[in-house]
Amino acid sequence: MKTALVAGGAGFIGSHLCEYLLKKNYKVFAIDCLVTGARKNIQHLIDNPNFSWIEHDITAPLFMNVSCDEIYNLASPASPVDFEKMPVYILKTGALGQMHLLELAKQNKARILLASTSEVYGDPLVHPQVETYLGNVNTLGIRGCYDEAKRFAEALSIGYKRMHGLQIRIARIFNTYGTRMRPEDGRVIPNFFTQALAKKPLTIYGDGKQTRSLCYVDDLVEGIYKLMQSSIDSPINLGNPQEITVLDIAKAVANTCGWKDYKTTFLPLPENDPKQRQPDITKAKKELGWEPKVSLEEGFKKAFDYFKAQ
Ligand SMILES: NC(=O)c1ccc[n+]([C@@H]2O[C@H](COP(=O)([O-])OP(=O)(O)OC[C@H]3O[C@@H](n4cnc5c(N)ncnc54)[C@H](O)[C@@H]3O)[C@@H](O)[C@H]2O)c1
Repeated sequence: MKTALVAGGAGFIGSHLCEYLLKKNYKVFAIDCLVTGARKNIQHLIDNPNFSWIEHDITAPLFMNVSCDEIYNLASPASPVDFEKMPVYILKTGALGQMHLLELAKQNKARILLASTSEVYGDPLVHPQVETYLGNVNTLGIRGCYDEAKRFAEALSIGYKRMHGLQIRIARIFNTYGTRMRPEDGRVIPNFFTQALAKKPLTIYGDGKQTRSLCYVDDLVEGIYKLMQSSIDSPINLGNPQEITVLDIAKAVANTCGWKDYKTTFLPLPENDPKQRQPDITKAKKELGWEPKVSLEEGFKKAFDYFKAQ
């Protein structure tokens, strides 16, 4: 039986990953300080004898006397509302948090996977985004704390690989959605579902022609797992290459909620909001044999049930 440590295990993606690993017969330790996650996300796992949960902030060193085979680092605030509220904390989590987990991986001779982000490409000038693209990040902008934290965490991981021969994995995750997202987290899917269910006008920033590529969480978790099991120790894009405008997302969400004559309001585009997002997943397809399977219609139905219950 393998042991995995999931930092950020009480978050949206992290809790799904814990569930997935338990189904694969892993012993799972979830570490989380609940800054943006919630105990209710892992409540259904608490009685599982192979699951343990540790409340800890990874910006502080970890002293764990359990050995582990795999470490997944998903711990980081990740939504635009967090970028405004806690920029320094996000930078500390990307830097100190990743360093503490890399040290733990070194002690345990464990593999370590970093949940990086498409935000390392900033507002990209290359489309679709391929892993070799170096990005267009505004260090000083409102999103700079998150983009740079992840870029630093990637560079630190590569440093540990070079200096200590650590087995690192870097997943550059694109927009992901699904059950257990915080309704108020400010990302496009929770925003639209919450507004549509309350029959409030859907807020579109800018002209709505900017694009997003939306991956359902189950697909992403499978990609993360496949990456960990692979021998790929350079960054790899994980996301759904189906590109869709924000206007079309609004329409699809309203349709899913059965709101035919839905209303919209337009607000100015936030600073450095990416205009285009589409992963080039050629590498993931070739090296991992992975690509998303869940259609937008299917994913939106699951999201609808979840947000309605909230
Ligand atoms: N959801 C997406 O679309 C997306 C896209 C790209 C990258 N990612 C990355 O995936 C990871 C998970 O994102 P998510 O959407 O599930 O966000 P989330 O906020 O739901 O989950 C993050 C979890 O990490 C915990 N956490 C944050 N800082 C911590 C710290 N210092 N110590 C311990 N725990 C801490 C939070 O409490 C939360 O439970 C993040 O690293 C994020 O950057 C997500």
